[in-house]
Amino acid sequence: MITLVGPMGAGKSTIGRRLAARLAVPCVDLDAEIVKQSGKPIPRIFEEEGECAFRALEGALLHDFCTDGTPKVLATGGGVVLSAPNRQRLQESGLVIWLDAPPEVLARRIGGDANRPLLRGVNPLAKAKELDRQRRPLYEACADMRVDTSSMGVGRAMYEILEFVSKHQ
Ligand code: S3P
Repeated sequence: MITLVGPMGAGKSTIGRRLAARLAVPCVDLDAEIVKQSGKPIPRIFEEEGECAFRALEGALLHDFCTDGTPKVLATGGGVVLSAPNRQRLQESGLVIWLDAPPEVLARRIGGDANRPLLRGVNPLAKAKELDRQRRPLYEACADMRVDTSSMGVGRAMYEILEFVSKHQ
């Protein structure tokens, strides 16, 4: 299994889909699975049940996908690494690729996205910087490879990842 981690706007869903197609395995988008399971969009889960409930569902589904024994590409949400058990589970279940980009680039890509509750009513750049400070060490702690998606296009990022995967899987 290959898991993509990294901040909001790093390209996890896009690269996840393309990577899965190239490797001929299913692509699972953890956020989409959370929406399916709960029957509500992510902003509504945050509003009605709170971030803790969202994180609990995220952790439970991550556990299921990490232990079902099916080869896949798993695209996660940016906060999946906040939980130590999640980080351990990811490390144990295969290769973890960290898609990264500086806060300035992320803020440009995600600014004003109504589907991302953490960005509601805040300055996207300030939020991206705050999350970067909190989470960078956590991505670093569980990733096998880091790809800076601000310095290359999707095609080049795919090439680098596929090369790494072919050597390490
Ligand atoms: C979150 C990122 C989102 C989603 C949720 C919380 C985060 O996923 O899981 O809004 O804590 O960074 P993306 O990284 O796919 O936007």
